[in-house]
Amino acid sequence: MFSSRLILNTPHYDQLTQLVELDRICLGGLWTKRGYQRELDNPNSSLLVLSIEFGSIIGCSCFWAILEEAHIALLMIHPDYQGQGLGQLLLYRLLKKAANCNLERATLEVQVSNQSALAVYKKIGFQLVGRRKSYYQKTGEDALILWRGNLDRPQFREDLSHWWSYISGRLSKYNWLILETGNEQVEK
Ligand SMILES: CC(C)(COP(=O)(O)OP(=O)(O)OC[C@H]1O[C@@H](n2cnc3c(N)ncnc32)[C@H](O)[C@@H]1OP(=O)(O)O)[C@@H](O)C(=O)NCCC(=O)NCCS
Repeated sequence: MFSSRLILNTPHYDQLTQLVELDRICLGGLWTKRGYQRELDNPNSSLLVLSIEFGSIIGCSCFWAILEEAHIALLMIHPDYQGQGLGQLLLYRLLKKAANCNLERATLEVQVSNQSALAVYKKIGFQLVGRRKSYYQKTGEDALILWRGNLDRPQFREDLSHWWSYISGRLSKYNWLILETGNEQVEK
């Protein structure tokens, strides 16, 4: 069976226009090109993009390292590629990087109605710790605040390993193969 090859890497400046377009499709235009450029230039920001080899960018994620916390600022997969395990792949790689940076916790905000995002976060042990009323200006929807602690504990490495088995099964099912190329070493 023919596999499609995926590349995970830190974006290059010449990919920013594509990223802004993906952002518009997935998030309704959260960050501008200048915003992505700022993230690339910020040493405390970790951006990761997922592209099809010789093709377009189909996903992106980002965290900010603030003190001992990873603030997950962005997670998106192009709608044509959702539901195949790719969102979990990006979150897996992001949290692995956060753990490698010796961060202790991860946190994020998510819309109450965002069931697929909540499903992804709960799989890796994020827990609900709070709620911000009418947080999203466009919709007036509340945000849930999620936390995942213990990134610095040995148990987290085991959790990641179990999660990786699950994700790699999903990727195989959809004939995705991850390439260890680009500037972001793919660790398993
Ligand atoms: C959130 C997002 C990144 C998930 O990406 P994805 O590639 O579809 O995620 P995955 O395929 O890895 O996993 C999705 C999981 O959610 C589950 N799911 C999807 N819709 C669901 C629903 N309505 N209710 C419950 N679970 C749902 C899927 O079944 C899957 O779990 P599984 O592995 O047990 O089947 C993607 O939907 C997206 O980009 N959304 C728009 C941007 C966004 O909202 N980002 C999050 C901001 S906090």
